[in-house]
Amino acid sequence: MHEDTQKITDIILKAASKARRETRNESQKRHAGKSLIWPVDCTIGPGLEGAIACDSKIGYVDGSKGWLVYRGYDIFDLCAYSSYEEVSYLLLHGTLPNPEQLEVYKKKLVEYRYLNKTLRLLMGFPVEEMNAMGALRMGTILMRQEFTYKDQESGRPDFYDAISADEDSIPMETMPTGEKKAIYEFSAAKKARKRKKMLGDASGLEACYHLLAGVPTITAAISRVRQGHMAIEPDPGLSHAGNFLYMMTGKRPTRVQERIMDVALILHADHGMNASTFASMVVASTLSDIYFSIGSGIAALSGPLHGGANENVLHTLRQIGSPENVSAWVQSASEKKKKIPGFGHRVYKAYDPRARVLGPLAGYRMKYCPEEIIKLYKTADVLEKQVLKTFGHEKKIFPNVDFYSGIVYSRMGIDPSMFTPIFAVSRVAGWTARVLEYLKKNRIFRPRAMYSGDFEREYVPLEKR
Ligand code: COA
Repeated sequence: MHEDTQKITDIILKAASKARRETRNESQKRHAGKSLIWPVDCTIGPGLEGAIACDSKIGYVDGSKGWLVYRGYDIFDLCAYSSYEEVSYLLLHGTLPNPEQLEVYKKKLVEYRYLNKTLRLLMGFPVEEMNAMGALRMGTILMRQEFTYKDQESGRPDFYDAISADEDSIPMETMPTGEKKAIYEFSAAKKARKRKKMLGDASGLEACYHLLAGVPTITAAISRVRQGHMAIEPDPGLSHAGNFLYMMTGKRPTRVQERIMDVALILHADHGMNASTFASMVVASTLSDIYFSIGSGIAALSGPLHGGANENVLHTLRQIGSPENVSAWVQSASEKKKKIPGFGHRVYKAYDPRARVLGPLAGYRMKYCPEEIIKLYKTADVLEKQVLKTFGHEKKIFPNVDFYSGIVYSRMGIDPSMFTPIFAVSRVAGWTARVLEYLKKNRIFRPRAMYSGDFEREYVPLEKR
């Protein structure tokens, strides 16, 4: 391992031993190995808090200890010793890959990173003006068309390919109108139809690989276009994290940047039945396909109470301005009962292990950063201490995964509008793994609402209302 990246590993191992030391005495709730017997007794709160909807072998969050486990492996070990490629394989397949399996898997990801047609279609929309998560969701649905032709009736002109045969066009302008053009485009569509044999089932493992590789390509393209640049091709020689950074920024990342992005992707890959995972599973449970399902995950993740919090953290830090303003700002937020972005969690009532890693990574070699980033980091550091002092021990509010991730990404030159899409790039692993697992014993999600409305109201004709 290179000297610099070894320092990142040391930071992770230090965070791990601190976490283990501090949480050793917390009680431990473990149910592993016990299969669920339905119906199950549980206390359910609003928002399905406490409800058990399925059993899963994918991941485990111990909120009182602040532990996170993927397929039995401690998150700290995975961050210290593995890569996002290994972790996403692990989540999907249940075991870590051996060297041959990893090689095959990496090749598959490289192959699926090329999404020229999807990007061409996406660029027909005003991506630079759109909400980045909205554009990502749209791109994911367009990816579906690249992968499956399931919806197209045989013999019907294949507009999708016909359109993409014209390099300079945008879709609305290239519907075949003139005969010459039509022949050109339909012949391209014929070639595309031959390729159908290679194209796959939009609910299977292959579609999951396609999404794992493709969502980063779309995210990077959205980021580039929003900055007024052209999307760039993937570099097959780079790792998943390294290539993603390269495609986002147009610059080859340093080893340390690549390693830190890799760790950030590992940390965000899965997290129990959170809102976006649940949204993906609900859609999949109707036997809709995995692209629609992941599109719903992206939509759910965009909210400020979920993945959108990381962007809000940065805005909050900028709004606070400097460490000296923190105390007054927290006081005012507390009086207004305002939730502070990047703090608190439905499950963690202890320090979030992901924040334990991201915090020191955000501060790694801070003295070499521009003044603006140093100020953000110092403000975050004081804010954390002040929030812990004000609410922490009484309400068990600690920094969550979103608190430091924004500073980590800002140091890589990434705009805040892309923080939540980066979360999605990573979480595709958890979404797809959990959807595939659930579909093996699928039962359509259908909870009930407690009706508290009226009965027996008399219908009043329109003219009398
Ligand atoms: N800042 C200040 N107070 C907070 C808080 C925060 N970020 N998060 C929770 N609290 C307080 C609540 O006001 C509430 O106080 P009360 O009992 O006096 O009313 C108490 O802690 C419990 O909060 P509650 O809203 O019931 O927790 P929840 O489990 O429903 O919410 C979150 C969890 C994540 C939605 C919530 O903590 C939050 O909105 N955090 C900020 C957004 C964020 O960072 N989201 C990313 C999550 S990874």
